[in-house]
Amino acid sequence: MAISADQKMDLLVSLCKRRGFVFPDSEIYGGFANAWDFGPYGVELKNNIRDAWWKRFVYGREDLVGVDTPIIQHPKVWEASGHLQNFSDPLVECKRCHHRFRADHLLEARQAEPGYDKEVPVDIKDIKCPDCGGQLTDVMNFNLMLKTFIGVKEDTAAVAYLRPETAAGMFTTWKNIRDSMRQKLPFGIAQVGKAFRNEITPGNFIFRLREFEQMEIEYYVHPDDAPRAYDMWLDEYKAWVRDVLKISDDHVQYREIPDEERAFYSRRSIDPEYQFPFGMKELGGLANRGDHDLSNHQRVSGEDLRWFDQEKGERFIPYVIEPTWGLTRSVLAVLSEHLDIDEADSVEGDKEPRMVLRFPPNLAPVKAAFLPLQKKEELTAIARKLSRELKSRGINVEYDESASIGKRYRRQDEIGTPWCFTVDFESLEDGKVTVRDRDAMTQERIAIDEVPDWIQEKLK
Ligand code: GAP
Repeated sequence: MAISADQKMDLLVSLCKRRGFVFPDSEIYGGFANAWDFGPYGVELKNNIRDAWWKRFVYGREDLVGVDTPIIQHPKVWEASGHLQNFSDPLVECKRCHHRFRADHLLEARQAEPGYDKEVPVDIKDIKCPDCGGQLTDVMNFNLMLKTFIGVKEDTAAVAYLRPETAAGMFTTWKNIRDSMRQKLPFGIAQVGKAFRNEITPGNFIFRLREFEQMEIEYYVHPDDAPRAYDMWLDEYKAWVRDVLKISDDHVQYREIPDEERAFYSRRSIDPEYQFPFGMKELGGLANRGDHDLSNHQRVSGEDLRWFDQEKGERFIPYVIEPTWGLTRSVLAVLSEHLDIDEADSVEGDKEPRMVLRFPPNLAPVKAAFLPLQKKEELTAIARKLSRELKSRGINVEYDESASIGKRYRRQDEIGTPWCFTVDFESLEDGKVTVRDRDAMTQERIAIDEVPDWIQEKLK
């Protein structure tokens, strides 16, 4: 069933709250703007994406190792990386209502207006406050790093920063990995974790937050090898989006970022963009950071961060190719991509709309549900036993005996459970249960003893 983009966003946000994916944070205190709690199904979905990523790249390849470095690092890290000086967004403020906006977003919005001649450059001075029509200030650079204080005195000597990207720790730990892990170039370091940015205009649900998660790889190469490695990671990125997130090619584009938009550390960037309900927007990134990070850390720390190629007798600072994935943003993309409304049989025998999350099974928060047709001991015992067996195999499943079978199916459809197993009175005679497929809505009977292996096989 066709859903408009506006409807889709409203449906998603309300479904996420109603079904325990994402809740507004601090709601008992009236909420805290742009902060969200991941509920029981949201955290499963997020962890499943993270685990699929770790398995594919860290376990699946021989040229990557994983690390976990601190959120708060030595303040010199940010001086060396250039973030203290350069990690800022252009800000304008309304002189009347004092609302703040990103100047680049206002320019983008103006250029997207129907009939706007894209050849005519837009001047921010010609734009009025979108909220009250007031005059805007000149553009100011606003540093996005969130500050904190370490120790008992809040003086400038104690200032520290929450990392704005997980990347930094993978540069500062480079020397230790180089010296301990017996890797040969090219090889990479991977990390998943929280990052923090004092965004000027957070919003669009969990799309732009002040606190979010990233999955990043810093892949070290000989400078001459950088173009090949860049292309290799672009192919890897595309395969991940298509084969793991199961995002349709029609909903994604890979945009070459022009010089004036590129991050200060990047020589080349391509952003994978996804067709979110509110527009085609950045999902992740692929940057060639050159020797920017290691050269600067070498300069500021005084440590030798070069690689020594024994065969060639050559010492050099490796280049870094950086594919980066927004984990929190990937959750939103996966929810949006797989949300669908179709029709199912109602209890009265006619058709009714059905909301369904068609997650790929390995990403689904719950893999299977066990539903006794009635709350009778002989049926519930079989369903509970199956549920316990699957849980003991580390597979997240649910047992549910509440409400009518139709309502229980709808609930599982709405949280994206691929298979529902119903135990009925026939099960007592033929030793079989009915498995209903979420997408095809077909039903087949399989032997009770075979259910655990059947599910495990399907998840491979
Ligand atoms: N280390 C490179 C780096 O951090 P970035 O393009 O600034 O590059 C990478 O961020 C990804 O992190 C983005 O593509 C996006 O998916 C995610 N991200 C960045 N800022 C975010 C925010 N405020 N809220 C949610 N996700 C964000």
